[in-house]
Amino acid sequence: MKDETSELIHGEAVEKDLALLRLKPNLQGYDKLRKTFKWSDAEELIDWYPDGKVNSAYNVIDRHALGMNKDKIALIHDDGQGNVQKISFEEMYRETNKFANVLAKLGIRKQERVFVFLQRSPELYVSFLAAIKAGAIASPMFPAFGPDAIRDRLLDSGAVAIVTDTELVKRVYPVRNQLPDLKHIVVVGDANSELGEISYEAEMRAASENFETLHMNPEEFQFMLYTSGTTGKPKGVVHAHKGIVQQTLTSRWVLDLHDEDVYWCTADLGWITGVVYGCLGPWSCGVTQVGLGGRFDPDRWYRLIEDHRVNVWYTAPTAVRMLMAKGDDLPAKYDLTSLRVLYSVGEPLNPEGVKWALDVFDNKPFHDTWWQTETGSILITNFPEMPIKPGSMGKPLPGIEAEIVDEEGNVLPQGHEGNLVIRPGWPSMMRQIWNNQSKYNEYLRNGWYYTGDTAQIDKEGYFWYVGRADDVIKTSGERVGPFEVESALIEHEAVVEAGVIGKPDQLRGNIIKAFIVLAPGYTESDELKKDIQKFVKGHLAGHAYPREIDVVKSLPKTRSGKIMRRLLRARELGLPTGDTSTLEE
Ligand code: WTA
Repeated sequence: MKDETSELIHGEAVEKDLALLRLKPNLQGYDKLRKTFKWSDAEELIDWYPDGKVNSAYNVIDRHALGMNKDKIALIHDDGQGNVQKISFEEMYRETNKFANVLAKLGIRKQERVFVFLQRSPELYVSFLAAIKAGAIASPMFPAFGPDAIRDRLLDSGAVAIVTDTELVKRVYPVRNQLPDLKHIVVVGDANSELGEISYEAEMRAASENFETLHMNPEEFQFMLYTSGTTGKPKGVVHAHKGIVQQTLTSRWVLDLHDEDVYWCTADLGWITGVVYGCLGPWSCGVTQVGLGGRFDPDRWYRLIEDHRVNVWYTAPTAVRMLMAKGDDLPAKYDLTSLRVLYSVGEPLNPEGVKWALDVFDNKPFHDTWWQTETGSILITNFPEMPIKPGSMGKPLPGIEAEIVDEEGNVLPQGHEGNLVIRPGWPSMMRQIWNNQSKYNEYLRNGWYYTGDTAQIDKEGYFWYVGRADDVIKTSGERVGPFEVESALIEHEAVVEAGVIGKPDQLRGNIIKAFIVLAPGYTESDELKKDIQKFVKGHLAGHAYPREIDVVKSLPKTRSGKIMRRLLRARELGLPTGDTSTLEE
């Protein structure tokens, strides 16, 4: 049988001299652990209430504030303009207690949905964690979202409250009257009481610093995050409090966090990486985290590492490529010697990126990690103790059974490309798709959880990403559903039909490309295309607009009227078009 993996393997593995590592990796003896590890072993990393209940936010903040880490800095928030705030675990404890009291005063009940729609700021972490303490299901929302995206999420989840700021609240009002469940709008900054907005600052001043964090059943929900699939609107991926077990374990075993580390995750809290590894997991380990406001800027990124002596850094391939594109002179201007281990997630990390880091960051490679909004924590990864194969996602976490299977669930022979699947039941696995049992069921087939990705395994058990098995687009590592973009496009008066694909791009991994059919009376022009782009940015999201638009006479559709995105993509990329027997053009 042909070994198809060989073509994926680029060059030599990056071997590590373990004796030279600054700190001994937390995970030792991977091969043995894969045989012996039980999830119950990891439960010891977490504090449980004597009644057997738990609260993830208690583990993230309270236990440190009430213990030896009381005065330790939890958050170094740098607003990107030279203003730095340092907040200890005890201060985080008091602030989250206060905001949990504010939510209680508003009458928020257990498991009601509270959305947090804020720019990166201390208030973002405080309100997210306070909502979890109060027993609500907290849901952070990416600040680039526009009114349509906001409406879809708040409406589907039946959110009762949103915490936002003076600027972002303006995007809520256009859809406010479509949200019958939304009772409270809490505003950081200038709240307009005439519109019924609640002032964050005023309520915080009046709130007590004492709050009894709610004891939750481990299977009750801590947060939900909307994410995109191939079809339909974004779906609410719901995570249970018990997930904190694995979120803590992977922060130790994969991110290799040690007590003395200063850690920086570049992801926004609006994405799963920001929630799990820019908030929950590292703080549950009692580590100091750095947060940076503002937009991507290579100078500021390097300066942040130098200023705050960052040891562990978790970022994304697009950011790595953007830093690479800036050249090696720039990093040479900064003292980056504090860096100890580097990680990446969200899309394939090019082998060049791994190697570039070796040159620029004094022999430290990027460790690629693989996971999804639905998996709730890292499942496949390159571990600090192992050699890295540049271009590979690494190996499964102990406790995780990952395989490559066909559509019937048969495990394929080593080296074959197929569906990447995981045996269900790991602690941080999503528990539901909100209000959509059938969507949830689609993931679970033949006794496996189907990730929607295709991959291969090489002879040494390293996993290699091949692609998506569906139409989900990863652009700059951010997950976008073609349906959402198509829906936004056809709201524009000049567009009658739209088909959207991801088009491979050197820098961004993929860009969003749209094929549109114009309404009668409109003619193609650059101006019109720009107007359509602006429209999508304004309605859906600043990051999810088509960078390229082609005007076409018609779109390829199946007999039942579904747009054949696959065919659009194949034609665009000059690939074989495959089976077109259902085509009705
Ligand atoms: C992709 C992000 C290649 C993949 C945490 C997955 C990756 C989707 C990698 C989930 C990686 C994530 N190599 N592709 N190391 N990590 N992906 O939900 O297609 O935003 O299914 O979660 O990102 O995206 P999500």
